[in-house]
Amino acid sequence: MLNHLSHPIFDIVRASAEKLGQPAYVVGGFVRDALLERDCKDIDFVTVGSGIELAQEVAGRLEDASEVNYFKNFGTAQIRQGNWEFEFVGARKESYQRNSRKPIVEEGSLQDDQNRRDFTINALAISLNDVTYGELVDPFNGVQDLNDGILRTPLDPNITFSDDPLRMLRAIRFATQLGFRIEENTYKGITTMSDRLSIISQERIIDEVNKMVLSKQPSIGFKLMFNTRLLHQFFPEMVALQGVEERNGQRHKDNFYHTLQVLDNVAQYSNDLWLRWSAIMHDIAKPNTKDFNETEGWTFHGHEFVGSKMTKRIFRRLKLPLNEKMRYVAKMVLLHLRPIALTKEIVTDSAVRRLIFDAGEDIDDLMLLSKCDITSKNERKVERFLKNLKNVEQKIRDVEERDRIRNFQPPVSGDEIIKLFDIKPSREVGIIKNALKDAVLDGEIKNNREEAINFVLTKGKELGLSAAGSIKN
Ligand code: CTP
Repeated sequence: MLNHLSHPIFDIVRASAEKLGQPAYVVGGFVRDALLERDCKDIDFVTVGSGIELAQEVAGRLEDASEVNYFKNFGTAQIRQGNWEFEFVGARKESYQRNSRKPIVEEGSLQDDQNRRDFTINALAISLNDVTYGELVDPFNGVQDLNDGILRTPLDPNITFSDDPLRMLRAIRFATQLGFRIEENTYKGITTMSDRLSIISQERIIDEVNKMVLSKQPSIGFKLMFNTRLLHQFFPEMVALQGVEERNGQRHKDNFYHTLQVLDNVAQYSNDLWLRWSAIMHDIAKPNTKDFNETEGWTFHGHEFVGSKMTKRIFRRLKLPLNEKMRYVAKMVLLHLRPIALTKEIVTDSAVRRLIFDAGEDIDDLMLLSKCDITSKNERKVERFLKNLKNVEQKIRDVEERDRIRNFQPPVSGDEIIKLFDIKPSREVGIIKNALKDAVLDGEIKNNREEAINFVLTKGKELGLSAAGSIKN
């Protein structure tokens, strides 16, 4: 154990605890991650006595540390030093909850404190006291569970989860991040108590979900959330993707498992949370747009438009950001069929230019999403699609090199049009600007000043305008 205590903070806490005469331990995530050899920048200390006094004593001995931040209601104090965050808490008899509104102050022993933590692997403590320095205190065989890859509540799951229902999601999040299995009784506890998630704030929920989304294989978490019905509590639109209907012997695919496959595929190539969310959302409107007719079979017409609209509503409810991240995801959902649609026709330069124009900076992400959206089991089909997408990619590169459409700026601006014809800002200016954009995208003229000015002059003439001034070539 001792080699895990190489950071100088441990000796400082030891000396401080000794001076105050109150036993202190490292506990929780740091111990777990140290044993798993995972990096961890948060260290939690628990002391039998006042966490706040211990923090003050420690702060007095630290150089370059932040002030002590107090969360008095909860008897906790926090100090930052560089990238490190140290948190001090007095051992308590009641549940250990972060962000809970319920103040918890009843003092307890180390064992009391360990009892009220979420999982056996998170209830490990290492002594920082002189006589027992470095010894592991492991009342629930947490090390065994760590070695076996098992998530288990220290007490009866009903107690542990009633204390803080978010822990049900945490179990699944750890299972996803660490590749651990949730022990049977603990799992049963989640399935029977999943509706208790309703008392948890959406902010805390989404924090856990995003950690799952950012893990190596996010589908693990979503399948567990689906099977335990936790997903049903906060994301019914995703639940609705599940299921296959058959009519006249025709079945559509299960869009829930398809979505998870796309998400895992994206996760292999990109760590971007929002590209991953685009994968989650790309088919979200399929249940709402589903239809069947004799000629086409199952259709989901317009699901990209409806899905793009739904993105904002869902982001708002899930407490995801409503800024450019949301707009990016909505755009991805809206455009997600375009690259594949392109492969179904002869790929004209103008169609490629329009795609680059609409996707802008995000064209590469869109192509990646498109590629990851191919999940057919029919290998020949997959191969054909991939080949076609490669073609589109090549076309994009060719067109880009020639026409610089990404970040397209009109080669003649609205102000210049006003100057050229000596007119006021008016409908005509908009008409000319639009026509100019279309002419460039359709390849009627090259994306350069000379051709653009000539085009604007001709267009103006058509509208009955005559050139009053001139602009530089
Ligand atoms: N804890 C708990 N119940 C919670 C949250 C936290 O019992 N709902 C306890 C666990 O012992 C946990 C410790 O508080 O190990 C610290 O919590 P936190 O920093 O939120 O999580 P970590 O376990 O450190 O994991 P991560 O940093 O990956 O979130």
